[in-house]
Amino acid sequence: MTATHTDKPAIVIARAIFPEVVEQLQQYFVVESNQANESWSGTEFVKRLRGKHGALTTGEQRIDAEVLAACPDLKICANMAVGHDNFDLPAMTAAGVLATNAPDVLTETTADGGFALLMAAARRISEGEHFLRAGKWREWSYDMLLGQDVHGTTLGIVGMGRIGQAIARRGARGFGMTVLYHNRSRLSAGKEQDAGGARYVRLDELLRRADHVVLVAPLTPQTRHLIGAAELALMKPTATLVNIGRGGVVDDAALAAALQAGQIAAAGLDVFEGEPSVHPALLRCSNVVLTPHIASASAPTRLAMARLAADNLIDYLTRGTARTPLNPELLA
Ligand code: GLV
Repeated sequence: MTATHTDKPAIVIARAIFPEVVEQLQQYFVVESNQANESWSGTEFVKRLRGKHGALTTGEQRIDAEVLAACPDLKICANMAVGHDNFDLPAMTAAGVLATNAPDVLTETTADGGFALLMAAARRISEGEHFLRAGKWREWSYDMLLGQDVHGTTLGIVGMGRIGQAIARRGARGFGMTVLYHNRSRLSAGKEQDAGGARYVRLDELLRRADHVVLVAPLTPQTRHLIGAAELALMKPTATLVNIGRGGVVDDAALAAALQAGQIAAAGLDVFEGEPSVHPALLRCSNVVLTPHIASASAPTRLAMARLAADNLIDYLTRGTARTPLNPELLA
């Protein structure tokens, strides 16, 4: 029997997404979408969420006990992001609301994005482009825009999940780098081997020894300001720091001060505290490459992330299963 319009569960899509994914969702649900891509306030989002059974979120929409109390019909929130610091998972589980994220499909693309930032920062690519566009390139000079080597150096990775391991493989196999890592827990010997023979070290040792540090850690109470003034002071003056994890893992004001003082050579940032705002002191530093949270933004990967979020909504609301649940205890 074909479901009538009113039999369909109702969902909200918090941001504009690929039209073909909206169309796919409309086959199963009554859909309120935001194809105008308006920045809904928290209150506006809750107004739209009330009475809905599911939501496709992007990592910007906070789902906590207060939101859940206001939306008793809600059954699932599907993040179109691997990170999920916008979800209060214990509160969602207590309210019986399934949370899903979008892992795996973005791993290699995000690792490419991280490596691009590392290369751009170490080799001063953005600075060089600004210099050229400003008409300042008038003559050859032996010391024009000298950067640091990437090949054959030591790469330190903080947060050795799937994306961290993909960056390690690139560094070790493509650039002959020695790989150190720090993580909540040590990887198995097999995984360390696959990650280019990566060696587990303490954070302070990694910061002292690495020529290039890449942060891929999620934002949690334990990782907030994991890298602040004291940690930056341990790094080499020639070192680069890349953050593709989450804003807030780095103290952005302390980083800007370290960059201005030449305490480290350069940085590459794709995520920021309080984004889309960026600390004004970072905007004044020429030795930092800044990108607007686009490490996963290749066309095929963003489509795969949207499709995975949609499939989680469809699977859960039509047959009680999910592909990438964060609180799978609700599936039992
Ligand atoms: C992007 O930052 C994501 O978490 O997918």
